[in-house]
Amino acid sequence: MDMSAIAALVPVIPVLTIERQADAVPLARALVRGGLRVIEITLRTGVALEALRAIANEVPDAVVGAGTVLNARQLNEAQKAGARFAVSPGCTPGLATAATASGLPFLPGVQTVSEAMVLAERGLTLLKFFPADTAGGLSWLKAVAAPLPGLRFCPTGGIGADSAPAYLALANVACIGGSWVAPRDALATQDWLQIERLAAAAATLKHP
Ligand code: 3PG
Repeated sequence: MDMSAIAALVPVIPVLTIERQADAVPLARALVRGGLRVIEITLRTGVALEALRAIANEVPDAVVGAGTVLNARQLNEAQKAGARFAVSPGCTPGLATAATASGLPFLPGVQTVSEAMVLAERGLTLLKFFPADTAGGLSWLKAVAAPLPGLRFCPTGGIGADSAPAYLALANVACIGGSWVAPRDALATQDWLQIERLAAAAATLKHP
């Protein structure tokens, strides 16, 4: 599956920052039960790679990837841990080259038209728009639709259940990313049922 095929599986990719290794598998199972099977684990905590590995091994219905991938070393570590895709907040030539060489589906972040054009030159046509809400949100995506007709986006950052439908209504939005389906308080109390319900609500959002 390439990145577009992965994005086509779900309207929303949960962006998860896992602090406790023991949360990884039950959290992924709750999201999958709710209908969100594409899961991004940010590489921002000491347990992130182990969490990713556990989900890859123990939750076969999940398509788990690594987020906040900043360099080739992290990309390599994530791939070895079982990541099926990688997401970055922005991109560098080195990271783009490493991603292509790895064969791992890659969703690089952009915030400007020029950044998007540089990645399109490399054949990357599905891009994360980050941080979506503060970088122009819906207006930015509408404005670039005509000048960048070959590109589609996964807006992420500052999106919630209220704003998600408007993003998903745009033709150049493939899916959206966000952490709202796994709120910090629900994680703290291991309230998997609440997370399953939030995932189920997000999974019913209209996929573009
Ligand atoms: C992140 O980097 O944490 C993601 O962009 C998620 O953003 P959100 O917490 O605003 O959904």
